[in-house]
Amino acid sequence: MMPPLNEHGGPDSGPPIAHDFSSNANPLGAPDEVVQAIHAADRQRYPDPAYQALREYLAQVLDVEAGRVLPTAGSSEAIRRLTLAASLQGVRQVWVPQPGYGDYRSAALALGLHAQGHADGEALLAALKAQVGPSLVWLCEPCNPTGQTLPPAFWAALAELKRQRPVTVVLDRAYEPLRLTGQDPVPTAFADQCWQLCSPNKALGLTGVRAGYVIAPIEDALLGVANVQALAPSWVLSAEGVAMLQAWHQAGTQAWLARSRQTLLLWMAAQTMALTRLGWHCQPSVVPFMLARPAQSVNGLRAHGIKLRDATSFGMPGWVRLSAQAPGSQQALFHALAHAEINP
Ligand SMILES: Cc1ncc(COP(=O)(O)O)c(C=O)c1O
Repeated sequence: MMPPLNEHGGPDSGPPIAHDFSSNANPLGAPDEVVQAIHAADRQRYPDPAYQALREYLAQVLDVEAGRVLPTAGSSEAIRRLTLAASLQGVRQVWVPQPGYGDYRSAALALGLHAQGHADGEALLAALKAQVGPSLVWLCEPCNPTGQTLPPAFWAALAELKRQRPVTVVLDRAYEPLRLTGQDPVPTAFADQCWQLCSPNKALGLTGVRAGYVIAPIEDALLGVANVQALAPSWVLSAEGVAMLQAWHQAGTQAWLARSRQTLLLWMAAQTMALTRLGWHCQPSVVPFMLARPAQSVNGLRAHGIKLRDATSFGMPGWVRLSAQAPGSQQALFHALAHAEINP
């Protein structure tokens, strides 16, 4: 039997979505320069299969060796590839955040690996201390779906533990560019010991462009950059993907992103306040999405063109994940919530 597909926010095979609170993509869309760069991408020829110019450019901006930058067809592809690489090197135990992005677990299960959830940093550290064999540990910082961030003390303890145990750590940085409050708690020296997944398509509101990159650790005794590279199909990244990644670190793009974080902070605060007034329990979040327990049924929202992300597949029935949206969409949500069919 085919395993069920992972559940995701965003478009699906259901009725049209006018107000999409279910996706974590930046609702402010993409800056013109990036859209133009994508339109100008040369689709008539294959990209360089080695992506040499792109890797060198990213390496220079990121201040790492070009050999450590691996283009991906987005982090979903990277998750499968790194899990396969770990499995081929004999890893059987995979630790995934719970609640967390479902692809970490499904990638492990598809390869017959043992996937276990860790509810928080302390639980993970305790489990890793008790573990003997090699393990693959997924961490999402800041975390989807919780919008939460692990404290500096956790990262210091994990770095210490990693010195003593055969632990391969992968940091999913999908939402770091959308961090609205506080600072990245991961020390650079520790990040350099981890595999890091970067997928700018969310911050750019361009999730249809399937492109990202992995930064490999400075040293990796187990997976090996060459092994991870060898598992990629040829031309893993499209011409549009190359254009997006080349535009991502440009000063104009980053200035646009900084401005859009200011707007998202305001939208998030207004949305949270209004939902709290309606009796919803909204969890704190450092990014423009959050987990919330509605005070009323939300089953009828889709008929109003509104989609929230049901959190049942995250192990949280009765909860939803919703992203901050523009004031007009917020009004549509509040109007629909006040509608009789939704509040029987
Ligand atoms: C935490 C996390 N990682 C990875 C991905 C997948 O990213 P990509 O579009 O780069 O495949 C998502 C998409 O929602 C995500 O939320």
